[in-house]
Amino acid sequence: MKIIVPANNKGGVGKTKISILLSEYLSQVLKKRVLAIDFDPQCNFSQRFLTMEIDPAAPGGKIPPVHPNYDPNDTDTIGPEGRSSIADIFFGQLILPYPTYITSLELSPAHADRLLAAESVRRNEVIEKVHDQFLAFIQSPELSDAYDVIIIDTPPSKGPLTMGAIKAATHLVIPSVMEEAPIQGVYGMLQLWMQESIRREQLRPLELVGILPNMFRQTNLHRDMLKSLSSAERIGKYVLPVCLNQRTSFAEVDAEGAIPRSIFDLPDSAIAKKEAIAVCECITERVFSGGT
Ligand SMILES: Nc1ncnc2c1ncn2[C@@H]1O[C@H](COP(=O)(O)OP(=O)(O)OP(=O)(O)O)[C@@H](O)[C@H]1O
Ligand SMILES: [Mg+2]
Repeated sequence: MKIIVPANNKGGVGKTKISILLSEYLSQVLKKRVLAIDFDPQCNFSQRFLTMEIDPAAPGGKIPPVHPNYDPNDTDTIGPEGRSSIADIFFGQLILPYPTYITSLELSPAHADRLLAAESVRRNEVIEKVHDQFLAFIQSPELSDAYDVIIIDTPPSKGPLTMGAIKAATHLVIPSVMEEAPIQGVYGMLQLWMQESIRREQLRPLELVGILPNMFRQTNLHRDMLKSLSSAERIGKYVLPVCLNQRTSFAEVDAEGAIPRSIFDLPDSAIAKKEAIAVCECITERVFSGGT
């Protein structure tokens, strides 16, 4: 089972966008069994596949709807009021992924308040309370029997949730806009990847899929930044040979009720669809080159 994690601590660089594209491509186009996990209290990834609700206890925060299979008489404990979120693993509860409109794609959504609570553990407890619990969940045999791929969207930080996702990952993708601040984020992520690689046992390496230029525009700034990153010693080789350009259709499909729902539902002639396929193919080839 492959576990793909897009991460960059800088905000708005396309972590959620590439999480969505990969989830749709792997499940809808390649027919793989995919579990999407949303580790970001902003809930953007969850919102894409599930109608999230406003949290009455913390307005501004989102919570998942009641699970369609929730049985109030069931003795198994899932999250409060039959709402299951990935945060529940930090509270000793069972995870019940939600079905989505794509048959082989399931989602374990975020829960703003509970994820923030899980993340606010004391520094010396992070490893035991966040990292180890999440790793144990990801490595459970039920999960590897049920899914071929897990995709975990991360928040724009290097906090316990992002670190927990990276520690559980088999493959790391670093999306970035070709501008100063996000590229600093890329360097930070590369450093994390190296530190984590040293820590890992050889049997469970963390592969770096690469740096994905996103929202690319044909401006001098973007061209120059991409050129210098691609030619940087020891780092240039990690820049993927594909990118996502800045295109209205990539933003449009994220709106609630958008038609079509997915970039992959656009006509084959649509340039955004061709670009998304090229990016997903490139990432998928790298992820699955070592066998399924
Ligand atoms: N290639 C693109 N072209 C146009 N719009 C894009 C593109 N990629 C992403 N967007 C839009 O830009 C915004 C930010 O993208 P996204 O949410 O994927 O970034 P993020 O890194 O997940 O942000 P955050 O750090 O807040 O979680 C979204 O509204 C998304 O629809
Ligand atoms: Mg996001």
